Amino acid sequence: MQIVHTAAELRDALAGQADTAFVPTMGNLHAGHMSLVELAKQHGQPVVASIFVNPLQFGAGEDFERYPRTLAADCDRLAAAGCDLVFAPDVAEMYPVPQTFAVQPPESLANDLCGAFRPGHFSGVATVVLKLFNLVQPRIAVFGKKDFQQLLVIRELVRQFNLPIDIVAGDTLREADGLAMSSRNQYLGTSERLQAAQLQRELAAIVAAVQAGEHDEEALCANAARHLKMAGWRVDYIALRDAATLQAPSLGSERRVVLGAAWLGATRLIDNIEFAHPAASR
Ligand code: PAJ
Repeated sequence: MQIVHTAAELRDALAGQADTAFVPTMGNLHAGHMSLVELAKQHGQPVVASIFVNPLQFGAGEDFERYPRTLAADCDRLAAAGCDLVFAPDVAEMYPVPQTFAVQPPESLANDLCGAFRPGHFSGVATVVLKLFNLVQPRIAVFGKKDFQQLLVIRELVRQFNLPIDIVAGDTLREADGLAMSSRNQYLGTSERLQAAQLQRELAAIVAAVQAGEHDEEALCANAARHLKMAGWRVDYIALRDAATLQAPSLGSERRVVLGAAWLGATRLIDNIEFAHPAASR
């Protein structure tokens, strides 16, 4: 496996490739990331992973500085998984001049859900992903459903800018107790870690209730938020949406998704569960 740090090296390494499968990451890789690499291998060749903690998508006071950076271990894992090339630029390589151009995702996506609590976050994500796409020039790119809103932002980026890239979505990998794998899980203290799967359990309870015929989705979401608050969480949102648009579901919305973001102490966790609505799909 080749490891490159500059755009020029990347260009040389990928010269003439037309079937590249790309997995963008911020590193500190876990089994969830590795499942995306496996998916990439099924869709194209060579498989390229990027590792870059993108300052543009972190707000003031967020965890950019303390985000775990484990490049050597990440490269070992990627090599063992059959990744062909790692692109690991530093900030000066990705942003040699101040990034005064930016991708502005549509307001309905950028300012909703996580975007409402992390202003500018999805613009930072879309901007760095467009730059990475231009550098790697993949034919397909893999993103996780764990970051469901991000996945929709990227799909819309590709559609509206006519990028010749297929976006493939990977399922969320979970720990044994149901907690979605995340690099941020390691911020959790011992008792927080024991509590952390509650977010997923509350989302699963909403899905079960809707599938059993409960119609008052707002009340279900409010109840889940109340349970979490009673257990000591600070809740950003619990919401049920149409999975294709992330808008409020209409009667005909077959695929729905329940999403949540909440804090345990200083750690912000997000999760979601996609499901088929029983009435809409009948
Ligand atoms: P990062 O958080 O490192 O995630 C990289 C990819 O792994 C994303 O597509 C994310 O959805 C996926 N992922 C994370 N946890 C997962 C899990 N438990 N199961 C399956 N896939 C999972 O997302 C980013 O980086 C950045 O925003 C990035 C797209 C690289 C732009 O900077």
